[in-house]
Amino acid sequence: MAGQLKMIMHGFDSLPEFALPEGYLLRTYLPGDEAAWAEIMNTGIGEWTEEKVHQELTDKEQFLPERLFFITCGDEPVASACAWVLKPGETEKGYLHMVCALPDHRGKQLGYLVTLAVLHYFRDHGFKDCTLNTDDGRIPALKSYLRLGFEPVYEDDAHRARWQDVYDMIEGKK
Ligand SMILES: CC(C)(COP(=O)(O)OP(=O)(O)OC[C@H]1O[C@@H](n2cnc3c(N)ncnc32)[C@H](O)[C@@H]1OP(=O)(O)O)[C@@H](O)C(=O)NCCC(=O)NCCS
Repeated sequence: MAGQLKMIMHGFDSLPEFALPEGYLLRTYLPGDEAAWAEIMNTGIGEWTEEKVHQELTDKEQFLPERLFFITCGDEPVASACAWVLKPGETEKGYLHMVCALPDHRGKQLGYLVTLAVLHYFRDHGFKDCTLNTDDGRIPALKSYLRLGFEPVYEDDAHRARWQDVYDMIEGKK
């Protein structure tokens, strides 16, 4: 299967309010969060070490601490997403990057909520749209993105067919 699925949100006028379930808080990056971020991502997106997180995220030119969001439970970061930009200095085109929650904390819409925190950031900082790349099998994430108002980007007919499978899986037809 060639290439990832892509989605876009044009404008941020219809975003819902942000409210967390009891026991959870939202914060942004603090120095030394690389280990906790790696631990979260290692449960769902790739293989990470602290060193690799520095190299590929927090030491990058376009990284800003205020753009990396964590939902915490007590002191423990349990979900994360990043308001990324694909090139340094970009001010209009946001990119939703690396959404993941620890398995013990899934099923509470933390993925939806940490994504919403990213979208509020883009809205409040004058960005015009937000894109993301994702994979066909990531049904909880895809359902959250659709609910928030992301739309599929159909790059070719293969994407239309793949999205039909996604909709069928979300509706329990597959
Ligand atoms: C993405 C992620 C953070 C979402 O976790 P979450 O916010 O706890 O999401 P939930 O488990 O509550 O699932 C979201 C929705 O998908 C539904 N869902 C989950 N699995 C499903 C399945 N197999 N078929 C149909 N619906 C499903 C849930 O019922 C829920 O629907 P609801 O909100 O109407 O109740 C989490 O799944 C994760 O960390 N996954 C691994 C990393 C990943 O895939 N990241 C996305 C990269 S693009």
